[in-house]
Amino acid sequence: MSTTLRARPVPNIVTELPGPRARAHIAFDEAWTSPSLPRAYPIVPARGEGCTIEDIDGNVFLDFAAGIAVNSTGHAHPRVVAAIARQAAELIHFSASDFYLPIYAHAAERLARIAPMSGPKRVFIGNSGAEAVEAGLKLARYHTRRQNVVAFVGAFHGRTMGALSLTGSKAKYHAHFGPLLPGVYHVPFGSAGLDELEDRVFRRLMPPDEFAAVIVEPIQGEGGYVVPDAAFLPRLREICDRHGILLIADEVQSGAGRTGRMWAIEHWGVEPDILLTAKGIASGMPIGAMVAKEEVMSWTPGAHGSTYGGNPVALAALLETIDLLEEGLVVNAAERGEQGLRGLRPLLEHYPGLVRDVRGKGLMIGVELDSKETAEAVQRQAFERGLLVLEAGEDCVRMSPPLVVTAEEMETGIRIFGEAVAHVAGHRGAAVAEVGVAG
Ligand SMILES: Cc1ncc(COP(=O)(O)O)c(C=O)c1O
Repeated sequence: MSTTLRARPVPNIVTELPGPRARAHIAFDEAWTSPSLPRAYPIVPARGEGCTIEDIDGNVFLDFAAGIAVNSTGHAHPRVVAAIARQAAELIHFSASDFYLPIYAHAAERLARIAPMSGPKRVFIGNSGAEAVEAGLKLARYHTRRQNVVAFVGAFHGRTMGALSLTGSKAKYHAHFGPLLPGVYHVPFGSAGLDELEDRVFRRLMPPDEFAAVIVEPIQGEGGYVVPDAAFLPRLREICDRHGILLIADEVQSGAGRTGRMWAIEHWGVEPDILLTAKGIASGMPIGAMVAKEEVMSWTPGAHGSTYGGNPVALAALLETIDLLEEGLVVNAAERGEQGLRGLRPLLEHYPGLVRDVRGKGLMIGVELDSKETAEAVQRQAFERGLLVLEAGEDCVRMSPPLVVTAEEMETGIRIFGEAVAHVAGHRGAAVAEVGVAG
């Protein structure tokens, strides 16, 4: 690592893409790794700093994908790196499930204090978003002694069997894995879905007092950065209260400051019973946590645990990340998010029909295009120009930059994204396929 990446212009593409080393590595990778991995486009990263990524050919990219909305404090934030190094030198593992690991309780206290619920809370810590979802599902069933769960069309909750059963974003995620968990009822995301929940599900299919929980992403992530209508979350809370159903907020993607509040659900003033967090909460170290109201966390020793869950090195990153979020990154997410939406909205007028929507909150920014093919082509064209973004939903491209993104970097991102859309708009029809669908 000779020169700092900050000394280079960003982006700075110095080879064809993918470059020769990347091409060779991709051939090697494809000989050994699981073909299930849904690679979006051929980037092979070598190192990162802030919002910048250098690939193994020396190309420098502006990273508005952040490892699927994970690198909240940017790549290799010096304070996070130092916290990880300090902790690794002291203690790398000592299972918190079976013993009293100090940093585990400190992280639990910290998470409980920032969780968007009043009153006493308790915390379970695992390793990933899906594990947090599994913990939420198990706790809801355990506590209520009920079995059924409501989830939403378009939701993504992960790929373990329980989380997969709750996921409702793409049919291919379910293909050939059935039977999935029974007792999961999907309704549309938004107020119309709650009409359906009350009119169809509760009246005709299963009475409400048979439901343990409703699980909801306050803003849908993988489903396409969908912000619900204003009445949806307050009414969902009211329905849950009326029927003794637990409300689980899956903030794996929308939480940890990304939307300009610590938790997205705070935009609607709604308190969940159970909060799930992962991704950005530890800057890329593997953590998934569940915070629940104390009276809900009624399970007894042995009911749930994890060998690695709450690994001390990952928790050192989590504590430092929360400090950085509170010291200014949440505020920056709100400001840069406004700038991003303002800068991208003109695309709606410039490319009517092609660009269908520009939406989001904070640094969860989604641009909906007229088709999946257009979204893939825009994503690819952004990559060719040195901007990393990621498809979401059917026909949306998402931007989820690190929360350290500067005003200048946001301007660059907006400009390059506009150029990518302009290129695709200029190559409509047969040529759209040509401009590159990710391999
Ligand atoms: C809202 C949400 N929940 C759960 C998950 C699953 O997280 P993980 O991939 O860490 O298991 C994701 C991952 O994208 C997510 O976006």
